[in-house]
Amino acid sequence: MRDSEYDFIRNLVYERSRIQLGSDKRELVSARLGKRLRATSLSSITDYCTLLQGPKAEEELSHLIDAISTNHTFFFREASHFDFIRQQVVPEMLARHKTERWPRFYAWSAASSSGEEGYSLAITLSECLQNTGWGWHIEATDISHRILAKAEAGIYREDVVGKMPPAMVKACFQRGIGPQEGNYRVKPALRQGLSFHQLNLLEGEPPFRDPFHVIFCRNVMIYFDRQTQEELVNKLTRRLVPGGYLLVGHSESLTGIRHSLQMIRPATYRRAPNP
Ligand SMILES: C[S@@+](CC[C@H](N)C(=O)[O-])C[C@H]1O[C@@H](n2cnc3c(N)ncnc32)[C@H](O)[C@@H]1O
Repeated sequence: MRDSEYDFIRNLVYERSRIQLGSDKRELVSARLGKRLRATSLSSITDYCTLLQGPKAEEELSHLIDAISTNHTFFFREASHFDFIRQQVVPEMLARHKTERWPRFYAWSAASSSGEEGYSLAITLSECLQNTGWGWHIEATDISHRILAKAEAGIYREDVVGKMPPAMVKACFQRGIGPQEGNYRVKPALRQGLSFHQLNLLEGEPPFRDPFHVIFCRNVMIYFDRQTQEELVNKLTRRLVPGGYLLVGHSESLTGIRHSLQMIRPATYRRAPNP
């Protein structure tokens, strides 16, 4: 790939997703573009750059972002966050609910990838809130249509769900039979508690009216520059109830970013409660 082509691709990716590709990512980008060349039957990066400037650019751009972005995730990733939800966030919000009368516990998985994060949260909330008379709902969003369709389907291979305790798998998943052998589908009762929306976190305002008790925005900010991280953190903060929590990935510190959140423990931040 020529320097000018790499610059063209990375500027386009930045404009569209704010994912920042440094010069160290050139090999990776080149490998991932290989997939797009095969899919579009083009034989060179030069032709691919031409496609990205033509009438089909818009459609191809979303495939390009898909190919570039990393969707790696797994159930109960960074498990201490789910313990924190169980031990602190839910009891605290339940107590406040007695006077605030919120319609439901409301959470957002803001870069949900293939859904494991949102479903892990759903499993946690359904356990914690059963018999309390209070419901819950989760919004799951991602920039990628493709990965979101996977999340929405809620079907996972045995080696993916097999890392959870067998009793949890039995309670929360239906085991596939016949052609679905080896697949596990999230049970409808759990699945109904989530809504899925394609959303670029850096574009416009998220389409949600009510404020959230907790927002998971994990392992996506690492791809953004500091200014973008600051913009995003402040945008998410405005979407929290007073005293609501923002959880980021454990390798993503908000140090050096201007924000109004209190740090509660590593990767766990809280919007100031009302005085
Ligand atoms: C590594 S995954 C993180 C999944 C999950 N949050 C976790 O921690 O396991 C990062 C996800 O961020 C999404 N993403 C990247 N840029 C985005 C943007 N500007 N807006 C929304 N999602 C974005 C990618 O499509 C990808 O699915």
